[in-house]
Amino acid sequence: MTEELLCEKAVEMLKMSYSPYSGFPVGAALECADGTVYTGCNIENAAYGATMCAERTAVFKAVSEGHRRFRRLAVAGGTESFCPPCGACRQVMAEFSPDMDIIMVTPSGKKRTVNLRELLPYGFDSAMLE
Ligand code: THU
Repeated sequence: MTEELLCEKAVEMLKMSYSPYSGFPVGAALECADGTVYTGCNIENAAYGATMCAERTAVFKAVSEGHRRFRRLAVAGGTESFCPPCGACRQVMAEFSPDMDIIMVTPSGKKRTVNLRELLPYGFDSAMLE
């Protein structure tokens, strides 16, 4: 899929966001190594801690369908500011693909791409458990 289309999918997912508490919708589109794309949105809860981010929604959908290698993820917030993935999402993405690209995109189409290694330097990984 083209980067443009992946970004459009992330922005489209803003519509699916369930974010009545923060009023801050987030959408994501994840491209797996084989080209399959999974989308996600943030899903909030009255018990705030049970909230799930858009990025992890997409990753968990993909992993639960048998995908563990990812090329890139596009993430969009509802404003013209970029929405960098939170720490928990960085850690979850790094578990599977520490070298993937993160494309932050805004509803108007402004983009910035960063590598996950830049976002999570010196992260905890499975090697530390050996
Ligand atoms: N949120 C995401 O979906 N992804 C992030 O990386 C940052 C935060 C959501 C969680 C919550 O629903 C709202 O944004 C405000 O924190």
